[in-house]
Amino acid sequence: MSVDLNQIKVELVEALENAENLRALDEIRVAFRGQKGKITLLSKSIKDVAPENRASFGKDINELKDLADSLIEKRKTELFEKEVEQQLESEWIDVTISKKDQKGHLHPLTQIQNRIEDIFTSMGFIVLDGPETESEYNNFEALNIPKDHPARDMQDTFWTTDGNLLRTHTSCIQVRGMKKLKPPFKVIAPGRVFRYEAIDASHENTFYQVEGMVVDKEISVANLISSMRTLLREVFEKDVKVRLRPGYFPFVEPGFELDISCLICGGSGCSVCKQSGWVELLPCGLVHPNVLKAGGIDPNEYSGFAFGLGLNRLVMMKYGINDIRHFQSGDLRFVRQF
Ligand code: DAH
Repeated sequence: MSVDLNQIKVELVEALENAENLRALDEIRVAFRGQKGKITLLSKSIKDVAPENRASFGKDINELKDLADSLIEKRKTELFEKEVEQQLESEWIDVTISKKDQKGHLHPLTQIQNRIEDIFTSMGFIVLDGPETESEYNNFEALNIPKDHPARDMQDTFWTTDGNLLRTHTSCIQVRGMKKLKPPFKVIAPGRVFRYEAIDASHENTFYQVEGMVVDKEISVANLISSMRTLLREVFEKDVKVRLRPGYFPFVEPGFELDISCLICGGSGCSVCKQSGWVELLPCGLVHPNVLKAGGIDPNEYSGFAFGLGLNRLVMMKYGINDIRHFQSGDLRFVRQF
């Protein structure tokens, strides 16, 4: 082998030893075996070799090519295995850890909703459901809120393109219940509701309510208050300070706001209770005769009470959660606390 060929062989072996990864190896391959690589250029110089030496030069250069190819291939295998090993080392996953961690549980809203369903079913109520997209009639008109009634502004509405809406409250399930059931009846209807509202610590555009309705002969405010007392005692498992004040809702007469003393700040004022020390939790009242009529019930024979519990607020009070936005954040650090 000529000096040149030997020199190239030494250079190649040294370069291959120093190659640290497949990319570096490919650069070496190009530098020696590429179109302008050292070995290729040398093989082209055969024309400058004296004719009597050409045969042996050609043989030597072919041997060098074969040698170079096999050395490069060998190094490639080594480096490939090394890279796979490094990858396995750095990207390994302990499948048993994720399994241990995957055990989930019910969202706090669902837990308390289930609790409320238990409390009411033990008092003889049945649980009703309704669709989240509702007709304008069920959400407003049948509840004594005709078009152009100022009370419509109390609930900013998401309208769907077909003239329906995302229910702004669970009260529309009252309408469905009255059509389905013959009085006397006692129902609750938990569900998700939607308002086209700006969001802050105490307002969400998507939240949960539990509607309640009792229709029977001679239902009075006393029945209403005693049921609300039972509910609060059972949910909070302690005495909470409440106050009842007049409230206006077109579907009840008289209507009330039942507030509880804010359990986040102990009544001293915070962002959740808007510094008032009180939280509106349970608006309620005696069912308006127009609502009974729209539901096909004779208001001269029957009366009823209804309430619309704000479930998110109740859960916030129970667990001391100071921001309603946590519920939908999807943040597991929040959910795992319950
Ligand atoms: N639907 C009302 C709202 O979302 C809450 C409400 C008030 C429901 C009084 C009732 C009720 O059943 O009697 O603002």
